[in-house]
Amino acid sequence: MTRPAPDPATDPATDPGPTAADGDDTSFPLARTCPFTPPDDYAGMRERADLTRARIPSGKRPWLVTRHEDVRAALSHPAASSDARNPAFPALGDGEQVVAAELRPFIRMDPPDHTLVRRMLVGEFTVRRVRAMRPAIEAVCAEQVEYLLSRPAPADLVADYANRVSTTVICRLLGVPLEDLEFFRRITSISGSRDSTEEEVGAALGELFGLIDRLIDDKAKDPRDDLISRLATGPLARGEITRHSLLSQIGITLNAGHETSRNMIPLAALALLEHPEQLELLREDPQLWPGAVDELLRYLSVADVITLRVATEDIPLSSGTIPAGDGYIALLGAANHDPGAFPEPGRLDVRRTQRNHVAFGYGTHQCVGQNLGRLEIEIALRTLFDRVPTLRSELALADLPARSSSAIFGLDEVPVSW
Ligand code: HEM
Repeated sequence: MTRPAPDPATDPATDPGPTAADGDDTSFPLARTCPFTPPDDYAGMRERADLTRARIPSGKRPWLVTRHEDVRAALSHPAASSDARNPAFPALGDGEQVVAAELRPFIRMDPPDHTLVRRMLVGEFTVRRVRAMRPAIEAVCAEQVEYLLSRPAPADLVADYANRVSTTVICRLLGVPLEDLEFFRRITSISGSRDSTEEEVGAALGELFGLIDRLIDDKAKDPRDDLISRLATGPLARGEITRHSLLSQIGITLNAGHETSRNMIPLAALALLEHPEQLELLREDPQLWPGAVDELLRYLSVADVITLRVATEDIPLSSGTIPAGDGYIALLGAANHDPGAFPEPGRLDVRRTQRNHVAFGYGTHQCVGQNLGRLEIEIALRTLFDRVPTLRSELALADLPARSSSAIFGLDEVPVSW
């Protein structure tokens, strides 16, 4: 076990910036060479005897954790802090840290604050509750696939299907009225982009919060069967959460639930089109679908770089110790493609039976919406391939524009015909 050299620049405020000694730092985030697989350099990092140090756009130098066992250990360690108010927090976008520190969405909180909020939400996403949403999700997908088919070919699988499915499902869950959907779609494309400046993110979130604020008032007076109504008449009415925090928690749930599915659905559809023998297996035996969704989540690992942390104490890992006070990124894609955990990780195999992937993270912050995410992806893909059996991509993989500006990997556009 090799311990990384002690770092004098643990506090970014006093970090002198690039020096000759920093020459070996890996510039991060790295681009994917194939839209399906995490960056090639992760393989080398996993095999190195020690941890890799990155330099991210803010100039900070977090450690990169890449092995499957290390990623799980680094995310479940009690000293793993998600608190974005810590100056060492390795946010990738300029606006992200300021906004997260101010709004304090629970994805960027530590226990016990995190625990209180998570408890309020977890009941909304139980297997039972999500299962009850199946008919509604099927109806949304059926409607949106007809919309796709109504477009002149080539249509865009992202804008004309996946984005419409994911925004409609999450807005229904929360109780955002359909007439606010377009507004919501516009705002999330700004707030979810790493290219957006701090001012742009701030303005977009201000507008989004205006909408949620109004909905909280409406639903407190006239509650319906939706998440915002339950939180407004429950924890908010009882004084268990402030209005400011409630706004943030609804905002992050909207965003996290929308952006991930929006990016996963087209990428997963493409992956199956590129592996027709796997799609054929699913056509022959639809019972394989739930397992296939987990395999696609592992294989594509769209939330690869979302798991940003600061070590509040030394965190020992097989590849070295993250020193107390340092930021680190637990790379989910690197873990999900670790050959030590998944034989032939670069092979898409819908019959793979292992379920220990970390596409939804691991530990305290493991995705609260994972049951919904799985179901939504499954129904969206099944509906698409059942209704459009002749679906084909119009562009070669290498020509598809990657959406590198978002914290969640995806493609900007996927032109398809049928
Ligand atoms: C569909 C694919 C999805 C993927 C790959 C995904 C991935 C993730 C990951 C990796 C985390 C952990 C972040 C961390 O540890 O810092 C997370 C957390 C979270 N996700 Fe998801 N997610 C998905 C779907 C959803 C959906 C559908 C919702 C809500 C409707 C959702 C809401 C959340 C929330 C609120 C958190 C924060 C949980 C916490 O901090 O305790 N996600 N997600």
